[in-house]
This record gives sequence, C-alpha cells and structure tokens, in this order.
Amino acid sequence: RVLTRLLTLDVVRENEPTNNVPDTIFSKLGTQLHRRDDHPIGILKNAIYDYFDANYSGKFVKFDDLSPIVSVKAIINLFLQNFDDVLVPADHVSRSYNDTYYVDSQTVLRCHTSAHQTELLRIGHSHFLVTGDVYRRDSIDSTHYPVFHQMEGVRVLSPDEWVDSGLDGTSYAAKDLKNSLEGLARKLFGDVEMRWIDTYFPFTNPSFELEIYFQEKWMEVLGCGVTEPEILKRSGKIHSVAWAFGLGLERLAMVLFDIPDIRLFWSTDQRFISQFSDGKLGIKFKPFSKYPPCYKDMSFWISDSFTENNLCEIVRGIAGDLVEEVRLIDNFTNKKGLTSHCYRIVYRSMERSLTDEEINQLQGDVRDAVQSKLMITLR
Ligand code: PHE
Repeated sequence: RVLTRLLTLDVVRENEPTNNVPDTIFSKLGTQLHRRDDHPIGILKNAIYDYFDANYSGKFVKFDDLSPIVSVKAIINLFLQNFDDVLVPADHVSRSYNDTYYVDSQTVLRCHTSAHQTELLRIGHSHFLVTGDVYRRDSIDSTHYPVFHQMEGVRVLSPDEWVDSGLDGTSYAAKDLKNSLEGLARKLFGDVEMRWIDTYFPFTNPSFELEIYFQEKWMEVLGCGVTEPEILKRSGKIHSVAWAFGLGLERLAMVLFDIPDIRLFWSTDQRFISQFSDGKLGIKFKPFSKYPPCYKDMSFWISDSFTENNLCEIVRGIAGDLVEEVRLIDNFTNKKGLTSHCYRIVYRSMERSLTDEEINQLQGDVRDAVQSKLMITLR
C-alpha cells in the first residue's frame, strides 16, 4: 500500500509548489523500523504490546502500517478544534509549514500518531494502539531527527465502568489512565520514581505528562489525557469517556538500550544491528567506536524569513547523517538593526573517520546552498 502511495506521490511532487518534503525525508517513507522485531524500535513496540495484552486480555487492537501520508483535515481537526476562532491567526498555517512536511496543500506527513484517533474511533474501535513513523521539521542534535516513531494508545470507557466508583467519568478515566501508564513505566524502567505534570494538548482535557526519575534526572516519557468530548461526539460516542496517550519510541529506546545518538536507529552497519535481538529489552548498546567530530562555524546576516528549521533542512540535505548537530553559538543585532547569527555545524560519522577534504567540500556546498536558498548574507 505504501508503495502505491509513493508512486502517485512522485507524480505529485514534480509540479506541486507547496511540497516541502526533501529527498532525504522522502527516501525514509516505507522503511518502517517499528516493524522489525530485532530492531530497538520494534523490540520496544513489542514490549509495550505485551504489557497491554497482559493487562487488558488482548482487547487492544494494534495498527502499525497505517499510511504516514494523511490529509491536513485529520491534523487540523485535532489541532484546531479547540482553538477559539479568533485565536487561529493567519500565521498559524505558516508556522505549520515551518514545522510540518507538506506533500501538497491538503496532504502532510503525519507529525504525530494522534492524526489517526478520530478515524479509528469513527469506525468503531474502543481499544487501540497505533505505532508509526512521524515527521517533523526540526533542529539537529543527538536526540532530534526529522523522522521518528510514536505509539498512540486510546481506550474508550462506557458508563457502567464508572457508575459504582463514586467518581464522574472524567475523573475515573484520568485515574484509570494514570494507573495504566504507571504500570507501563514500571514494566519498562523498573521501580522508578514518577511524577505527573499538568500540560495542554488540543485534543485532551485534562492533559498530563509523565516523568520518571532515571539516571539522575527527570525525563519526560509521554503525553496523555482524557479525550475531548468533541472527538467522541464526532464518532457517535456521546455517553462514553476515553483516554489517550502518545509516546516517542526513540526517546525511550535511547535510554533503555543506551543508544547515544538518534541517527544510529537508521544505521545499516552490522556492528549496530547485530547487537539487538527479538524480545530482548535489557541489552545495552556497546559503541563500536567514536570517531572524532569536526566543527565548522558559519556567520551570516539573517532576513525576517529566516528559520533554523530551514537551515537545518539544507544542511541535512547536503551532509545527510554526517551532520551531528547544528547549534546557534552567537547572535547579535547591530546599530542598523541587522541581525547576525553564527552557527556551529558538527560533522561526525558514526561509522568511519571523515577526511578534511570531504568536510571542506561539504561545508563549501552548505555555504553555497544556504546563500542561494535562504535570504541571508554570509559574512
Ligand atoms: N500527540 C501528542 C504529541 O505528539 C501526544 C499525545 C497523544 C497527547 C495523545 C495526548 C494524547 O506530543
């Protein structure tokens, strides 16, 4: 299915002005790391499946090959339904263009698995897990990559579950949600300290983040909450309440398997791949080597349209996975009101040493591309 979509997409790409999906991202579609049972992402997915199977006697239906190419509506519905009309400014859309990959004006690469909530509820599912690749334009460092994987969980509760509890539906669902996710965190991380942080998501209310105290710091594990009644209403479930959560698999896998850099998940190097096997959650990754980094700085005057995401996309387009980090190290505005940025680009391969010539060539190409594609003036 994904393949047919890709073929049609290719045709669309040629003459679609709103398409901002670069080849580096496009080529990742269909890889589906989460469906490989001996890849850290797949191993973690299966461990979470096991938890829900054991605790809800197999009630949760699993989806892991829904197309990542979704209509804007699915996303906009979820994001905007809760915004006051006046609070949806024109620049909301432009902000999205900076954060989201558009295939055409009506179609995006999903930026989270929540994009599937409404459709699955509407066709009648009440307990489900959705795992998939999600796409976000973002900055570059060891924990951010424009493609990553999320798992979404949704559970619908009917009134007979909470009538005798003395609680209202929302409070009951919030309690059920917290119990369930605390159990999951204990299964994955052992007997850790946890805390709940109140937060905001357009599609849940109340909304929470779960944090665990792990390796001497508080770490955010997931976002969740009690589903907005409007979403249930659209699916014809007016008397029910529901909860939902979404978690980032890379973030958890990096900690659980001791994986130091998010690019490694995409590595095809046997020295990486061969360290993991089906069903083994506890394995710690042994770095096969750490090659030296190379730093290159680049200063330029920006214009109003400059964004760090656009810069990172260009760098990634040229250097691919050889770029480890793009970091703003200096920022000032002169008397004439011109703003200068200095970015440090860190080049490092995880598989081999890079030569000076190679890096100079990459940096030269980056400078040329930045100059010609962004409205900036190199200094
Ligand atoms: N979709 C949210 C995110 O990507 C996570 C989330 C899922 C929050 C479901 C609440 C309920 O950050």
